[in-house]
Amino acid sequence: MNLIFDTHAHYDSEGFDSDREQVLKGLPEHGVCHVVNVGATLAGCRASLELAEQYPWIFAGVGVHPEECGDLPEDWLEQVREMSRAPKVVAIGEIGLDYHYEDMAPREVQRDVFEQQILLAKQQNLPVIVHDRDAHGDTMTLLRKHQPRGVVHCFSGSVEMMREVVSLGMYIGLGGVVTFKNARVPVEVAREVPIDRLLLETDAPYMAPVPFRGKRCDSTMIAYSAAKIAEIRGMSTEEVLTRTKANAEHFFSLEGKV
Ligand code: NI
Repeated sequence: MNLIFDTHAHYDSEGFDSDREQVLKGLPEHGVCHVVNVGATLAGCRASLELAEQYPWIFAGVGVHPEECGDLPEDWLEQVREMSRAPKVVAIGEIGLDYHYEDMAPREVQRDVFEQQILLAKQQNLPVIVHDRDAHGDTMTLLRKHQPRGVVHCFSGSVEMMREVVSLGMYIGLGGVVTFKNARVPVEVAREVPIDRLLLETDAPYMAPVPFRGKRCDSTMIAYSAAKIAEIRGMSTEEVLTRTKANAEHFFSLEGKV
């Protein structure tokens, strides 16, 4: 039985333009049961919906990423709302805050776009997929305020922050970063996070785990992140994959449907 549930990938990315169909068709032969393809732009969300329609093992997230929220059309939220009604949409994302570079969309615009999409997710009864880079304080302020169902993807905070996210009822998304040599805090988080709140992800085509670091990532590589997490926690890789797959099915309300 295929045990890899990739809760966060971007197969609409141009990194897959040359061989997208081949890669996606091959996933089930290589241990992958499901992928949530996460939109970042309005066009990316449409592409995400198309992939979900085309491949039975793909579901879609729709949302506007903080890096993409600087120049949105007036009706952007209506567009996301409309797309979120499609049958295979399982989350609002990727949404959040990114304060890494100075020249990104103004922080107040990012916060506004994030907050409006959290409210949309609550209205639509969908979980949020949260991107938080160098913005832990403001991210937590908004999560505390609205308490959405959701996951903080590619979690980069401390163990203390992880505990607060979990206490809000949310999940922690971990991927290739746990395998990196310099990963100290992510390893602590992987050890301490309650197993029933852990989701595995790639962020493909980015964040390939060791030994593929720097190369193009795809969902099959989750096996390497899972093996590392298994080693950290003293579990078997199969158990990590089985537990996180069940978590993902619960998180995305797919129990009994897949
Ligand atoms: Ni992403």
